Amino acid sequence: MIETPYIVTYPVSDAEFQLIQKLIYETAGVYIKSHKKTMVANRLRKRLEAHGFSRHKQYYDFITKTPEGRQELIEFINCLTTNETFFFRHGEQLDLLAEKIIPQLLSELKPSEKLRIWSAACSSGEEPYSIAILLHHKFRPDVLKRIEIVASDINIQVLEKAKQGDYKPYALQKVSPFFKGHYFEKKSEDKYHLIRPVKEMVQFFRHNLLESNHHGKFDIILCRNVMIYFDIESKKKTLGQIDLCLKKGGYLMTGYAESLFRIETTLKYIQPTLYFKE
Ligand SMILES: C[S@@+](CC[C@H](N)C(=O)[O-])C[C@H]1O[C@@H](n2cnc3c(N)ncnc32)[C@H](O)[C@@H]1O
Repeated sequence: MIETPYIVTYPVSDAEFQLIQKLIYETAGVYIKSHKKTMVANRLRKRLEAHGFSRHKQYYDFITKTPEGRQELIEFINCLTTNETFFFRHGEQLDLLAEKIIPQLLSELKPSEKLRIWSAACSSGEEPYSIAILLHHKFRPDVLKRIEIVASDINIQVLEKAKQGDYKPYALQKVSPFFKGHYFEKKSEDKYHLIRPVKEMVQFFRHNLLESNHHGKFDIILCRNVMIYFDIESKKKTLGQIDLCLKKGGYLMTGYAESLFRIETTLKYIQPTLYFKE
């Protein structure tokens, strides 16, 4: 008889869950609902094992009360953030950027100025790289030199993946055969590598949306499919920071489930998911 491996998941008590819920909320702004206890237990299992703990309270105390725990906080955040993404997700939004907004903004810039784009919760890079592919396809090299794309996430594991540029077929589900053929090298049935000229168009850095960004001001900020995990307070903080980073005349693009309804902002609504800084 073949034995199926038995995976031990350490149960989370209500009190432990509340501590974990508070810690991820305070550090990343992410609000995990109470019915997600099993998900939390599953995601933290390997971290407890890595440190030889059998209770979540021991793990929590390690992170919050010991000097070595500071480093583990990063792993904790990595485990509890949701990183779902793929190339050309809601491609019509990216087409709007490449076909209308970016050409319009470029035409308004002085020759010495650069157009700056920030993908603000980029996960493993599919979002900023999709924009880079569209722009690489559309513009001549002299125009491309005038565009800067930066991308950030709170999770360093996904950023490492982004920098490598290796993707599974799932990530390419919405990539057209033309773009697949021109912009990816098929390394195996399970692995596609993004070509170097596109990879070099995007710079990555770690950034927490609740904190200030010291990378200057931007013409376009994408903040898609991350505020759905935030409560109203974290959304307000994030939007406050985004507002500070947007140039006048710049655009914010959100995800479809992320209306700014009920949040005070000076940004002007243009159409669903698109806001303008006057
Ligand atoms: C679902 S992915 C969205 C990726 C991409 N924007 C898209 O729409 O496909 C959400 C990302 O937000 C990141 N994230 C969560 N909280 C964050 C925070 N406080 N600051 C920065 N990034 C955060 C997660 O690590 C995750 O990679």
